[in-house]
Amino acid sequence: MNWQSVARGVGSGLLASVLAMGSPVHAANEAETGELLVKLVQAGRVVVTENQVLINDASKGDKGFTPQVFEGKQIAKFKEKTNIDLSKPDGSSQTRLLLLLLEAGKEVVEENQFKINKQGIGFKGFIPAVWGRLTGEKFGHKTGIRLKLTNMDYRYPGNKPDEFETEVLKLFADANYPKGKEYTRMTVVNGKPALRLMAPEYAVKGCLGCHGEPVGERDITGNKKEGWKEGGLAGAISLVIPVK
Ligand code: HEC
Repeated sequence: MNWQSVARGVGSGLLASVLAMGSPVHAANEAETGELLVKLVQAGRVVVTENQVLINDASKGDKGFTPQVFEGKQIAKFKEKTNIDLSKPDGSSQTRLLLLLLEAGKEVVEENQFKINKQGIGFKGFIPAVWGRLTGEKFGHKTGIRLKLTNMDYRYPGNKPDEFETEVLKLFADANYPKGKEYTRMTVVNGKPALRLMAPEYAVKGCLGCHGEPVGERDITGNKKEGWKEGGLAGAISLVIPVK
């Protein structure tokens, strides 16, 4: 993303204050970093999805789904999407943040090995959304950047959208909003400039077993299905990045 597309996300009047802060270049950098962080989380969620059958296999103890294996797959997925190879990192501050996110995700897989490798139990609750939430929390502790999954009809209380997120989720749900387009805006959070970035997600078939129809029926996790339809808005990844 370039500075122009950041500017497009900035409400009238706000652009002036961004420029007055004298850090538009930084804001553009943060926006690009934000987009890559989103892609790295998405890559990790896909890796969990692709290994869900293995993770849920009650007949197996050791799944071989180690933090190292997970990390290797996440790096490969991320490289497919971005051409950035995190196994050969450059020393940039952007890469440093991506590596911290990678580390956070790996730690979550490490801490859940006991669960993943439990024999005799099929569904263990280790799913992409849970991995994403725990990874986001860890990443926040490491960096001060807030990263969360959110949705209007959220399941986990901590995923509840705040005012800004509610507004943008409504925008994403509007039929006229360009599909897949991230929304960025410079804001002030706790008295400090911060870039907010949200990336919409859309339901694929694999989501519907839990989030699909019929509304209200319990899914495998014990939660009530929301009645999503394939291709419909399925929440968003939301970032709050302090801008120096
Ligand atoms: C195995 C059932 C299951 C599947 C399949 C599933 N989810 Fe979820 N999803 C959940 C659960 C359970 C939560 C709450 C996770 C937590 O504790 O943070 C959740 C949370 C979410 C959230 C965060 C907001 C909230 O409700 O708390 C989003 C966004 C989300 N899912 C999107 C998706 C998408 C997109 C797919 C398909 C790619 C998908 N989910 C597939 C069970 C599932």
